[in-house]
Amino acid sequence: MAEHIETLLKTSALYHPDERTVARAYIKDYDAAYRESIADPEQFWDGVARELEWFSPWHTVLEWKYPWAKWFLGGTCNITYNCLDRHVRSWRTNKVAVIWVGERGEERIFTYAELYRQVNRCANALKRLGMKQGDRVTIYLPKIPEQIIAMLACARLGLIHSVVYSGFSAPALESRIRDAEARLAITADYGYDRGTAIPLKPVVDKAAARCPTIEKIIVVRREKPGITLDAGRELDWDAWLEGQSAACDAVPLDAETPLYFLYTSGTTGKPKGVVHVHGGYMVGTYITAKYVFDLKDEDVYFCVADPGWVTGHSYIVYGPLLNGATILTAEGKPDYPTPARWWELIEKYGVSIFYTTPTAIRLLMKYGDDWPGRHDLSTLRILGSVGEPINPEAWEWFHRVTGGDKPIMDTWWQTETGSILVTPLPCVSLKPGSATRPFLGIEADVVDKQGRSIGTGGGFAVIKKPWPSMMRTIHNDPDRYLGYWNNIPGCYTAGDVCHKDADGYFWFMGRADDVVKVAGNRIGTAEVESALVSHEAVVEAAVIGKPHRTAGEMIKAFVILKQGHLETPELIDDLKRHVQTELGKIAMPREIEVVTSLPKTRSGKIMRRVLKAKELGQDPGDISTLEE
Ligand code: PRX
Repeated sequence: MAEHIETLLKTSALYHPDERTVARAYIKDYDAAYRESIADPEQFWDGVARELEWFSPWHTVLEWKYPWAKWFLGGTCNITYNCLDRHVRSWRTNKVAVIWVGERGEERIFTYAELYRQVNRCANALKRLGMKQGDRVTIYLPKIPEQIIAMLACARLGLIHSVVYSGFSAPALESRIRDAEARLAITADYGYDRGTAIPLKPVVDKAAARCPTIEKIIVVRREKPGITLDAGRELDWDAWLEGQSAACDAVPLDAETPLYFLYTSGTTGKPKGVVHVHGGYMVGTYITAKYVFDLKDEDVYFCVADPGWVTGHSYIVYGPLLNGATILTAEGKPDYPTPARWWELIEKYGVSIFYTTPTAIRLLMKYGDDWPGRHDLSTLRILGSVGEPINPEAWEWFHRVTGGDKPIMDTWWQTETGSILVTPLPCVSLKPGSATRPFLGIEADVVDKQGRSIGTGGGFAVIKKPWPSMMRTIHNDPDRYLGYWNNIPGCYTAGDVCHKDADGYFWFMGRADDVVKVAGNRIGTAEVESALVSHEAVVEAAVIGKPHRTAGEMIKAFVILKQGHLETPELIDDLKRHVQTELGKIAMPREIEVVTSLPKTRSGKIMRRVLKAKELGQDPGDISTLEE
C-alpha cells in the first residue's frame, strides 16, 4: 500500500520561533533534548516520573514483554494526588484551577482547594454507595464541572471511569455500559446545543433499562423545577453530596491500576474500550502538557475539547491539573451565540494558551477576519491544534488572526497513545500542516508494510518502543490490542498514513483503515453500516469518508434497498434519522446514495477503497481481488 500513498509536494514556508518564545520555553534546543532522551528512554521517563509525587517508589522503570508493557513497577501513586493534594499543600491552594463558562453565559470558578473539596465530597458519596476499587462508573454528562469532579472522584478511589460523550444516543451508550459492566451512571437532566435544551436523562433511562449491572443513576439537575427522579434508584447530585465530608484521602494504587476506559471506533462495528492506567498515563500527560504548551503558573490555558473525548481527558483534566494550571473550559459551539464566542473568552480571561481543532478553525475562518479582529488577543502566546490534519490555509489564517507571531503546536496522537507523541515544541521551527517531530522519549517513524524505515516519503506511522502513557489493553478484547502490534513487525501501528520529509518532519495524511474523521471525531464505517442495515428498508450498506471543507471529512453511505422499498427523499431522511437514533448526530451520513450492487472481494468483503476512489475520481489501485 505504501507505494500508493500520495506524497504531496510540500513547499510551505518555514516559521522560526522568535527569541522571546525560545528564551522562555522549558526546552530551548529540541535536537539536543531529543537525542539525549532517545539515547536512554527509560532514564528519560524515570526522570520525568521523579518530578511527581509517589506513595512508594518503583523498582523497575519498564517491563517489556512484547507487546505488553508495565511501567514504574512496584511504584504506588494516585493521579489525583498529583492533580490536587500536591497543589493544595502548596501556595497554589487558592490559585484558580478551573474556570467554567456555560452555554448561557454562566460562570463557575474553582480554586484548587475548592476543586479538592468537591472531589472529596463526591468520592465520599461514591464510597457511601459501596463502590469499591476496580468498579466501573459510566459518566454521561454534558460539559459541566461535575464531569471533571466525577472523573477525579472515581480516580481517587481507584474506581474506573468510563466517560461517554453526551452526543451519543441510547444504543451507543448501552453498548458502552454493557462492555464496562458499570454499576453506576452519572448524568444530567439537560445538555445545551445552540440554545436548545437536549434531554439526556431519557437516553440514560433507555440504555440503563437494558443494563442490569446499573444499580444507581446520579442526576445533575440544571433546570428548575427539577425533573422527577425515581426515589429508590435515582439520586439528585446535590442531595447525594449533601453532608459529605470534604476530606477523603487518595487511595495509594499500584502504578498499573486502571484509571479509565475510553471507547473509540475501530474497523469493526464494536467500539474498543481503551484502558489507561494511573502511573504511566500520569507521567505522559504531565510532561507533554508541560513541554508542548510550555505551561507556566501565570498562564490561562483554554482547551476547547469535551472531556467526553480523549483530548478532554488528557488536556483539560489530567495534564493541566498535574501541572497546577489555570484551565478555562467552555460549554457550547465556537459560533454560538456569535462567531466571537471564543475570541471574547480569550480577551475576557486573558487566555495565553489556546488548544483547538482544525474543524473549529475552518468554521471560524468562514466567518472572516472581523470577528477575531475586534478582540484583544494579545495575551495569547502558544496555540495548539489536534484531532485531524490541519490544512496549511487554515494554519496560516489561525496564525495571522492571532497576531502572526504565536507558534502553533500541531499535536498528533490518539486515544490509544494517551498523550501527544508527534508535535512541535515552542522552540521548533514550524511548517504549516506538519506535526513536525516526535516528542522526547518517543521513537516514531514512517515505514513500509515490512517495517522498514522509508527515510523520506510516504508510508505508515509507527512507534518503535513502548512509552508510559500507551494503552495497556482493550477491555474484554486483548486480541484487538495485539492487533496494533502485530500489523507491522516490531512496531505499534497507529493506522495513519504519513509522509516524512527530508528534514524528518512528519506530515500525517489520514487513516489507512476504515475510520472516518468527522470534525476530528473518530467514526468507524462499520458502526454506521450496521446502524443502516438495522433499518427495515436496507439490505446492505457501505460507508466511506469524503473530504469536506469544514469538517475535514464527511460520511457518505451507499445502500442497497430491500425489495418493495423505493428510493424517496423521505426514505433517505428516515435513514439519516435512524443512524442518528442508533449512534448519535455525529455519525449521521451527510449523503446517502441508493445503489444496486457494491464492489466486493471474492471472499465477500466490501471494498470501500474502490467506492471511495470512484467517488473521488481517483485510481482505485490494485483491484485484482475484486469479484466483478
Ligand atoms: O488519524 C489521526 C488523527 O486522529 C486519530 C486519533 O483519533 P482519536 O483517537 O479520536 O484522538 C484524537 C485526539 C488525539 C489519529 O490516528 N489525528 C489526531 N491528531 C492529528 C491527527 N491527524 C493529523 N494531525 C494531527 N495533529
